[in-house]
Amino acid sequence: MKKRPGSRRIILKAPWEIEKLRAANQIVAEILHELKESVKDGVTTAELDRIAGDRISQKGARPAFKGYHGYPACTCISINEEIVHGIPSDKKIINKGDLVSIDLGVILDGYYGDAAFSCFAGQAPTEQAQRLLHVTKEALYAGIRRAKARKRLGDISAAVQDVAESQGFGVVRKFVGHGIGKALHEPPEVPNFGVRGSGPVLKKGMVIAIEPMLTMGSYEVEILQDGWTAVTRDRSLAAHFEHTVAITDKGPDILSDGFI
Ligand code: MF3
Ligand code: CO
Repeated sequence: MKKRPGSRRIILKAPWEIEKLRAANQIVAEILHELKESVKDGVTTAELDRIAGDRISQKGARPAFKGYHGYPACTCISINEEIVHGIPSDKKIINKGDLVSIDLGVILDGYYGDAAFSCFAGQAPTEQAQRLLHVTKEALYAGIRRAKARKRLGDISAAVQDVAESQGFGVVRKFVGHGIGKALHEPPEVPNFGVRGSGPVLKKGMVIAIEPMLTMGSYEVEILQDGWTAVTRDRSLAAHFEHTVAITDKGPDILSDGFI
């Protein structure tokens, strides 16, 4: 997710470019699927990152996050109160009941793929934690359903916020989704809160990453000493789901489909 966008202009993609983006995003989806199977009690986040790195090169792609503003790994792996941008480490061991969020980006043939999911290592620790995960996914899909030509960006944001807040969860404001194409982050910003009917009109050829981050308590964020890891200020649990979506004549096209 992005804190501040660069230039204003939204770059529309030709159908052949959307297919390039689909290819990149399908690699992301396949690897995320494998990582989801690998989230288990006792595994370290560095081991999961190694799996991701191996698969990325086997598939002829390159990691998108490594080196991005100095980020040191292929994935972001965030546990429990960590919201996003957790740095994989040999010292970080996943325990039973942990809420694990994995975010992955790749570049294939100059085009970016970006997606993320949350899951539990084993069983959810509480009913409410299970609900947080479920509602975050529902919020993502509510946003995706509004990703249609002639609607507005604010329709997506409002739909995400509605689902989250009506279920009593916080929506993180500090990080937002983004346009994606030949760069990981393009305009527009895609906030997870907003006003229906506001913002730019959505057009065929726009490709955006929608990525709600929900919390069990306050939506306020704190960045840890490592300069990356974003945690909830009140240390409540957080979940994160992300899809890269193209706006087409036939409605939203989930380019990263297949892993959630
Ligand atoms: N998936 C995130 C995003 O949408 C993670 C990028 S942060 C990075 O932008 F620095 F690790 F690349
Ligand atoms: Co993203």
